[in-house]
Amino acid sequence: MKTVIRAEGVHKRYGTLDVLKGVDLEVTQGEVLALIGPSGSGKSTFLRCVNHLERIDGGRLYFRDRLVGYEEREGKIHELPDTAIAAQRGEIGMVFQRFNLFPHMTALENIMMAPILVKKEPKAEVRERAHDLLARVGLADKAGSRPDQLSGGQQQRVAIARALAMRPDLMLFDEPTSALDPELVGEVLDVMRDLVRVDGMTMIIVTHEMGFAREVCDTVAFMDGGAVVESGPPAAVLGEPRHERTRTFLSKVL
Ligand SMILES: Nc1ncnc2c1ncn2[C@@H]1O[C@H](COP(=O)(O)OP(=O)(O)OP(=O)(O)O)[C@@H](O)[C@H]1O
Ligand SMILES: [Mg+2]
Repeated sequence: MKTVIRAEGVHKRYGTLDVLKGVDLEVTQGEVLALIGPSGSGKSTFLRCVNHLERIDGGRLYFRDRLVGYEEREGKIHELPDTAIAAQRGEIGMVFQRFNLFPHMTALENIMMAPILVKKEPKAEVRERAHDLLARVGLADKAGSRPDQLSGGQQQRVAIARALAMRPDLMLFDEPTSALDPELVGEVLDVMRDLVRVDGMTMIIVTHEMGFAREVCDTVAFMDGGAVVESGPPAAVLGEPRHERTRTFLSKVL
């Protein structure tokens, strides 16, 4: 199995606060990983490190066979130039809790922007792909709508389409449904489910949707205190957790 993400003892601190204290994690091609854990355990921070939105302070973080955000030359680690970081980020799609669409652009323009700006792809080709993606997330008729003309669920589906427009090898989701009204959660989870079933997309999903994790994810990793406490198939981690901390957390959310 090809490794897509490998974290080895990843450390991250903000000032004097140690947030990640040695995260070890591996995600292979086509694997869907649910990252669960209490508030403040470092889930979002870890995702941001995977996309090099944050610099790590220790350990190693690989995307496929390359370091995230860095390269090794003559035994020393150097941060990549901005263009190389942008290119690497383009291979990793990220969807946040808040939809983060550009408010002054239409749904179509939001989706088209990165492939044109970052990858310099021809506009006509990108436009066609953007229409296909909108259809795929069930929004073929919303190409010309601005974010404020869309519901939260629709905005989040545009955000997913926008990430997919870069043809990523990995998708990161940070609580993609937790800012949504309950009746809109299903339409976003349906799109994510479709990505798994149809594309076999490799994904890391921070989520509190335990039903979804159990149904769709191959692996559940429970984080607490800045480290992965246990991970394994959903039935094992959610059904028969080995650690007391996992049991305590699950008793609160299930
Ligand atoms: N930019 C930052 N500067 C300082 N501290 C930060 C920053 N970002 C996160 N933290 C701290 O790092 C810790 C981990 O935060 P993080 O957002 O990764 O947790 P989380 O597991 O995603 O929690 P939640 O479930 O509430 O989203 C928290 O104590 C948080 O206050
Ligand atoms: Mg978070």
